[in-house]
Amino acid sequence: MRNYEESYKAKLTTAEDIASRIQNGDVCASPICMGEPYSIVQALAKRVSDHKVENVQLHGTLTMPGKDYLAPEFQGSIQCVSWFFGAGSRKGGQTGKIDYMPSNYSDYPMIWNLRQNLDVLFMVVSPMDKHGYFSMGAYAGEAIGMVRLAKHIYIEVNENMPRTYGENFIHISQVEGICEYNAPLIELPDTQPNELEKKMGGYIAEFVPNGATIQLGIGGVSGAIGQALVDKKDLGIHTEMLSDSIVDLIEAGAVTNSSKSIYRGMTVSSFCLGTKKVYDFIDQNPGVCMLPVDYVNNPYIIGQMDDFISVNAGLEVDFLGQVCAESIGPMPFSGSGGQFDYVKGVKISKGGRSFIAMNSTAKNDTISKIKPMLTQGAAVTTHKNEVDCIVTEYGIAMLKGKTMRERTKELISIAHPKFREELTFEAKKLNILI
Ligand code: COA
Repeated sequence: MRNYEESYKAKLTTAEDIASRIQNGDVCASPICMGEPYSIVQALAKRVSDHKVENVQLHGTLTMPGKDYLAPEFQGSIQCVSWFFGAGSRKGGQTGKIDYMPSNYSDYPMIWNLRQNLDVLFMVVSPMDKHGYFSMGAYAGEAIGMVRLAKHIYIEVNENMPRTYGENFIHISQVEGICEYNAPLIELPDTQPNELEKKMGGYIAEFVPNGATIQLGIGGVSGAIGQALVDKKDLGIHTEMLSDSIVDLIEAGAVTNSSKSIYRGMTVSSFCLGTKKVYDFIDQNPGVCMLPVDYVNNPYIIGQMDDFISVNAGLEVDFLGQVCAESIGPMPFSGSGGQFDYVKGVKISKGGRSFIAMNSTAKNDTISKIKPMLTQGAAVTTHKNEVDCIVTEYGIAMLKGKTMRERTKELISIAHPKFREELTFEAKKLNILI
């Protein structure tokens, strides 16, 4: 057996040394969220500000704040590309300083394959095991696809990164350099669902049969639906993102994964984001399987599971049922993520239903999220031909198989009462209602 410890020592260096290996014009990238190594990107930002390297591209997904290269003075020096704006990159996207890669999450590995230009991959991993493998811990996502394509791979070993199982390992023989940095894991605030979200969770729960397989997306409503499902039996989890609300459901005994037709007995996920509760839960947990996103979010995989229920959030919806979940008008907010992957997959699932939930209003009841037309410039995340159910605190509009007039009536019936008259007037003006 090879002595992997020796190999580790030989490859162990500093973040500054790794950053010094980046060449002018290199395309660098990290996998989703917790996969981005703080010490390496900080060292790279320093080299850029010292004019030691130029024309570097840096790609990231769901990037969190606290990194120098995201500061306004850096933008332009490093060409940043976000595949999904997170709290760290949103402002840069809105001011045009960070470019955007429109894509479904399931397609990320395919896009890297298409581009064939991934020079350098940086990633965070948990400590090496005796076989020379590092677990990616809180993610699998697009990482394995990127590992296959990257010309150079550098890792940041973080003792705080949980060790998880699945298809999310990298072997020491695949990496050129290692640095160590024990950053605390990024945690989302532990927020409890509000009354409106609880109402939406309750409506959706009525459509969830025992034994259903569940996906819960990012955003406030996920916590509420999690709570609304605690009395269900034998639920299964197959989800892009594993969050606190899913851990609560598992710990409450509502999830056994015993009815799933794929990965029976296992909670399947592609990345995790939440509080320490989630990271403790996934650590060395043989019941959790972290798998690449081009498998987990593949609509044809999702569609093979009966009674698949997906719940995601939206920012606005028009009378046709086009859902925007990623921009406020033309201003980027997040990204498509896996929303459309699940809407599409659920359509194939026997007995499946997809729900897009949103409060009926935004900005203290001054804006209706149900609109005659999407705001100019808003990105369509879920297409009108694929949309199924829209949920607000006033109920569920079931749009699949409905005409435009029927959709409009259903949507107005779940709009905030203060906007219903105005929406009806607009629908008549557009000759949708007569
Ligand atoms: N017009 C103007 N502003 C709006 C708005 C609208 N129609 N809808 C929401 N906003 C504002 C809110 O007021 C809030 O502003 P604030 O931060 O100043 O309070 C902000 O936009 C976020 O809205 P909120 O409804 O709280 O968002 P959320 O955190 O619940 O997230 C999505 C909702 C849609 C942004 C999020 O789910 C997402 O990014 N989805 C896309 C990807 C996806 O669904 N992936 C699925 C698998 S993970």
